[in-house]
Amino acid sequence: MSLFTWLVVKGLPLVPKPIVGRVAKRYVAGDTLESALAAIADLNREGAMATMDLLGEEVQDRGKAIKNVEEYERMLEAIAQRGVDSNISVKLSALGQKIDDGFCRENVERILTTARRLGNFVRIDMEDASTTDLTLRLYHDFHARYSNFGVVLQAYMRRTLSDISQLPAVGANVRLCKGIYIEKRTIAFKGHETVRLNFLQALEKLLTRGVYVGIATHDEHLVCGALGLIDRLKVPRERYEFQMLLGVDAEMRRILIAGGHRLRVYVPYGVDWYPYSTRRLRENPEVAKHVIRAFLGGR
Ligand code: FDA
Repeated sequence: MSLFTWLVVKGLPLVPKPIVGRVAKRYVAGDTLESALAAIADLNREGAMATMDLLGEEVQDRGKAIKNVEEYERMLEAIAQRGVDSNISVKLSALGQKIDDGFCRENVERILTTARRLGNFVRIDMEDASTTDLTLRLYHDFHARYSNFGVVLQAYMRRTLSDISQLPAVGANVRLCKGIYIEKRTIAFKGHETVRLNFLQALEKLLTRGVYVGIATHDEHLVCGALGLIDRLKVPRERYEFQMLLGVDAEMRRILIAGGHRLRVYVPYGVDWYPYSTRRLRENPEVAKHVIRAFLGGR
């Protein structure tokens, strides 16, 4: 991390919220469901699909977790009513995982049932390593009953290739990303090139096993590697999609869509944008660098 990046990350709590907000704005659709639906309608017109995320995580109170469940149900109803092309992404810590695992499972099941009734799909984001086992266990337990359910694997985790071996034999659906949290070297690969290598190894293993994959990256080296694998393994278009974050590299988005690939954009919204944005700034110097560049007027 450069001295400049380090200073910004450490000094972030001192930066006035409106200034952080200016930086964070490009990554967030807005405060309301309506703002997210408008952003998604634009993306759909461009040929992209979306996945909607309600900002807010690490919920410690049951009432707040239930409110989040209700908002996700409202989101699913609105997607159906408006006819926009979007599924949803949820964080277990926003649904009470830190309060009680059983309570969290009830909440997930409520969302899965509503999504199934409306013909939609739910993806659980993967959070830090302290939650990986619980998250994968929940995914395995619900997968048999809910086919409209997917999980995330992180290429920086040393366990990922073995987690792929444990996936359900039929109908697994995985988003593969590098991973955003700061983890110990004992459990996570640290080098940029090593994480890239594991991403491509994991992607090959997933595609070979017939798993539906959301290839979530803006790293052109990985996009190129993924395109090579798709070509070599003759993976049909309906077995994979690329995924990108709102506010990042719209040009690559358009290139992939023009190339005939399916592409989904992660669209977060909500008033709790501050922890989401600053967590990324603090936890990942790479993202901090991009945000600083954006703040200084870069792309
Ligand atoms: P990398 O960080 O190397 O970026 C490659 C290039 O993309 C950069 O050089 C830059 O040009 C551009 N770029 C990347 N991020 C940018 C930014 N913020 N602003 C501007 N430009 C940027 N992680 C996790 O742990 N759990 C999860 O559930 C998810 N979910 C998820 C969903 C989706 C759809 C995406 C795209 C990503 C995630 N992630 C995630 C985050 C992921 O793990 C990773 O941290 C980021 O995608 C950045 O990694 P890249 O592969 O893009 O490479």
